[in-house]
Amino acid sequence: MPANSESQQRERLLTEVYADADEASRQVAGEIAALVRERAAAGRTVVLGLATGSTPVRLYRQLIRLHREEGLSFANVVTFNLDEYHGLPPTHPESYRRFMQEQFFDHVDLPSANIHVPSGLTPRGEAFAACQAYEKAIADAGGIDFQVLGIGRTGHVGFNEPGSTRESRTRLVTLDSLTRRDAARDFLGEANVPRHAITMGVGTILSARRIVLLAWGESKASVVAQAVEQPPTESLPASLLQGHADVRFVLDRAAASELTRFKHPWLVGPVKWDALSARRAVVWLSRTVRKPVLKLVDEDFTEHGMADLLTEQGPAYRLNIRIFNELQHTITGWPGGKPNADDTHRPERASPHPKRVLVFSPEPSDDILGMGGTLRRLADQGHEVAVAYLTSGNLAVPDEEALMAADLALDVGHSANGTDASPAESFAARVRAQLQAKAPLDQDTEEIRRLKGLIRRNEARAALRASRIPGDRVRFLDLPFYERGRYRQFCPDVADLEAVAAVLAEIRPHQIFATGHLDDPSSVAAVCWNLVREALTGGRNAPWTEDCRLWLYRPPTRPWNPAEIDMAVPLSPTELTLKIQAIYQHKSQRSQTPVADVSLQEAWQQADASNRATARDYDALGLAEYAAIEGFQRGAL
Ligand code: F6R
Repeated sequence: MPANSESQQRERLLTEVYADADEASRQVAGEIAALVRERAAAGRTVVLGLATGSTPVRLYRQLIRLHREEGLSFANVVTFNLDEYHGLPPTHPESYRRFMQEQFFDHVDLPSANIHVPSGLTPRGEAFAACQAYEKAIADAGGIDFQVLGIGRTGHVGFNEPGSTRESRTRLVTLDSLTRRDAARDFLGEANVPRHAITMGVGTILSARRIVLLAWGESKASVVAQAVEQPPTESLPASLLQGHADVRFVLDRAAASELTRFKHPWLVGPVKWDALSARRAVVWLSRTVRKPVLKLVDEDFTEHGMADLLTEQGPAYRLNIRIFNELQHTITGWPGGKPNADDTHRPERASPHPKRVLVFSPEPSDDILGMGGTLRRLADQGHEVAVAYLTSGNLAVPDEEALMAADLALDVGHSANGTDASPAESFAARVRAQLQAKAPLDQDTEEIRRLKGLIRRNEARAALRASRIPGDRVRFLDLPFYERGRYRQFCPDVADLEAVAAVLAEIRPHQIFATGHLDDPSSVAAVCWNLVREALTGGRNAPWTEDCRLWLYRPPTRPWNPAEIDMAVPLSPTELTLKIQAIYQHKSQRSQTPVADVSLQEAWQQADASNRATARDYDALGLAEYAAIEGFQRGAL
């Protein structure tokens, strides 16, 4: 058993958990650097197996830093990349070859003859021979010394999708529909994502002498836990890494959060019980034995590894009542605090009233999806609600929407001006021409992006109108990192930070709502969250921070578990309907094709389902039965 502590007893391969992806990447880069230097000193080469995608970007940045600042040379390094999309030339913006050049190869002294990436242009009929040649090249180089991996949500490593065998070698494969959907944003639409790829096999990967799999963000947490804790199975290819003599999963806290030692620590050893862990355990127990909290008995606790919790905080009836009251006190119809009421047991303070509330929305629909009902309540209860849209969201607008908007602008201009073209009309005409000249995978021009951003602005305004938030309180920051960036490759800088800090200084909020702190660090939401956090840290001495609270909301796809909720805002059936009507205003974000698969639900359906599910969870715990609930966690300022 590779576990190095009792709490890791369910882990079938070694896991290392770091505070964040940067720290983890620094550690792995240091390890690679040591290997490269050791081999260089012995006059030998080292063979690295490399991955693409958002996960290893930080690792490559660290290696480049070591090259620039500490003279790390890659002259003795030979590289083999895991995979490449079939059909893409190396110059294509989404080709893995180009990705590697831009993210790593172009910045270090790696000899180009030492670089190997499968060719996406190999004709189908020649793929088998080309794949065999790739395997032979790896063998001729002496085999892979150090293999870097990421993991896909299907559990793929490389592009070895479920069903890949342990023995599989480099070959042409068909991509899973979830993998294609995850790549849809990069390719500006799922239809543009290639259907096939060339990938090293699981067997090729297992032949590497050392394997390090990296994973960041909570979207990977579930698949990581399965790969680490479930028996190996071909239906989850990453689990086939179990049993390799030198394999580790290097994780940030969010990606590790579904491992038993973090999620249900009481099942794998003694727990230092505090108020929070007791609440999590009791909520879990109530769900597991399907009894409301107040009906749990001593045997339920002792039979589920919580005898020590009873000894410390029991007996059951006392613990139950305490947890029940804690959960009960999270519920409030007054998310901004109830004026002139005793607030001892309320999640939010009564005064000041009204409050200045600042909602940060990474893209222009995150606010409504995550907290549309609460937004409306806050406005109805007289608070001054300002919403700051951090990015324009223009990367997520389909061309067809932009074409319609350009046509509309032309028509409006035409009917208003007769034959004299206004500047707005000329702009629309140019965008129209640019859209028509654009091939499906071309990047948008700056003017197309501007028009797409305006579409999202107006959808956001419509959604806020539906939520009764006055237009003069809305801020569109259009942060520059997003405007010049691409998905997964955003590089925020001081201008972004200053823009966020300026809104805080202007609004001087009593309440802040934000999201994204557990996301994959390369996502828009996580980049935005880090900017908000940095701006808050920078403004820590500002007088307004003394009377301000931070509340964290969540996307509908990953709602808070009731044990994590500090404020639960119930929505009546009518309020839920109004929220969905507000979500509907984000028309460009509606699916372009009808979808039957529930896992491909539309955003409004996901929001509806998740708010109803939270309400059902509260009901099952023995609390009041509401139609829907939006949950928030209190954050540290
Ligand atoms: C990339 C690769 C894939 C990715 C995986 C995760 O070369 O082989 O297995 O590692 O799809 O992608 P990201 O890192 O973008 O989440």
